Amino acid sequence: MTRHPLDTPDLVDALGAGLRAVAYTSEGIAALLGEEASAALVDGVWWPALRRTRRADDAALSTLIRLFLLGATEPVDAVAAALPAVGVAALLDQQVIETADGGVRAVLDIRPHGSDSADHLVVADQDASMRPGAVRRDHVLGIGGASMSLARAVIRTPVGRALDLGTGCGVQALHLASHCAEVVATDTNERALALAAATARLNGLSWDLRSGSLFEPVAGETFDLIVSNPPFVVGTGAQDYVYRDSGMVGDGVSEALIAGIADHLAPGGVAQILANWAVRDVDAWDERVRGWVEATGLDAWVVQRELADPISYVSLWVSDAGESVVDAAERGSLWLDWFEEQGIVAVGMGSITFRKPGATEPERAPDVVIEEITAAGQEVTGFEAQAFWNRRDFLRRNSDDDLLAARLSTSPVFLESQSLPGDDGWQQVSAAVTRPGGPGAVLPVDEVMTALLAGCRGEVPLGALVSLIADFHGVDGDALAAVAMPAIREAVGRGILYRAE
Ligand SMILES: C[S@@+](CC[C@H](N)C(=O)[O-])C[C@H]1O[C@@H](n2cnc3c(N)ncnc32)[C@H](O)[C@@H]1O
Repeated sequence: MTRHPLDTPDLVDALGAGLRAVAYTSEGIAALLGEEASAALVDGVWWPALRRTRRADDAALSTLIRLFLLGATEPVDAVAAALPAVGVAALLDQQVIETADGGVRAVLDIRPHGSDSADHLVVADQDASMRPGAVRRDHVLGIGGASMSLARAVIRTPVGRALDLGTGCGVQALHLASHCAEVVATDTNERALALAAATARLNGLSWDLRSGSLFEPVAGETFDLIVSNPPFVVGTGAQDYVYRDSGMVGDGVSEALIAGIADHLAPGGVAQILANWAVRDVDAWDERVRGWVEATGLDAWVVQRELADPISYVSLWVSDAGESVVDAAERGSLWLDWFEEQGIVAVGMGSITFRKPGATEPERAPDVVIEEITAAGQEVTGFEAQAFWNRRDFLRRNSDDDLLAARLSTSPVFLESQSLPGDDGWQQVSAAVTRPGGPGAVLPVDEVMTALLAGCRGEVPLGALVSLIADFHGVDGDALAAVAMPAIREAVGRGILYRAE
């Protein structure tokens, strides 16, 4: 039977205590490395951090930073001195480290991770960039860009039961633990479940870890919150690496994951996932994902963050696992051939937030919004996702007349206009307001909307403002209200206008 790393709970406890004893924490490491080397390390530039550890007085912390964060081979004596209560023999036995040219190097990546309320320790495999050769097939991914984009997007309202599907090192489960009473985490990869168990134990947490594909391990169960950063890579169905290849053809894993969500969401529950979808016509990029989400019967907000052409997409993944350049080129070519055969001209990458109506809500059609939001600074955050649904509910419950009777305020927004030089000086050709940080919170505005937004200060009903502007322009107030209403609704939906009361 395969023995997985860190399978001895007492040893995990001793390791956690040993790491914390030498301030192997976010704060301790930042203090030793300093601001600039820390920032460089976050960007993947490791050598300034190495330089700092060589100059630092704190030998134990420096050794552990080099060992676990910088992929260095360290002398046995130095590691023994850094973790005296654990010992090198136990670290080798627990597959935390391995012997390497004259010393030892880390097998696992153990790092502090500040999440929501606390500083945690997370256990994963060392990244491909830290070790020679390709990673193992059952490689357990550490905290990456996708992990963090999902973690930031999750609505952090306190709930009862939560599911992290495809937990890997347990980073999503760790965040869930801060606001969910019970966390169930699943994976098909036994090594991932072992490392997630170590992550939980190192942080004094207890998760219900289950083995199996997609929703198999939770058949018949429902959750208030489901999160998943699945192995969404669109490919031939080959499973070279479990962390990113589902073994399902094309975008089958995203489709199957989405198809299972409705049955496993409790009334009022939310599911937030990352997904990729194959695109065969860039002008109709939303067709496939729309079919999937509409079939769920749930409310859904699909945000396509990027539409990658085949070469960009494949090159992103072929070099990801540390294969040789020749292997990567060979596999990349086959992958592109397959895209061509399938007629896949691009891959959409994004996030989807699903919501199931509450048990007492009147029956209604699902509210589905599918859009492309690619601008930097407009990422979906948990706060924005919750606000998005609140605003959709507000709009559904309030008729146009209700809105005209309400006092609205304008959020802090920027008005930006484009002008071209003409015969009579500058001629404005377009104008838009933007709510900084709001996903898709950009609204083209004409003269009437500009005036309305300037006037909305929560003091008078919207209808009165519309009448004033209509009088100024010598037009009928009701007619102007009817014409302006779609833009007003859009402004409310984007958080540019909000009810003042
Ligand atoms: C991209 S990693 C995400 C890990 C982690 N949740 C995160 O956010 O960083 C995908 C995880 O899904 C697991 N996985 C692969 N196929 C799966 C399946 N069919 N069902 C459930 N999990 C699966 C992989 O082993 C891997 O741990």
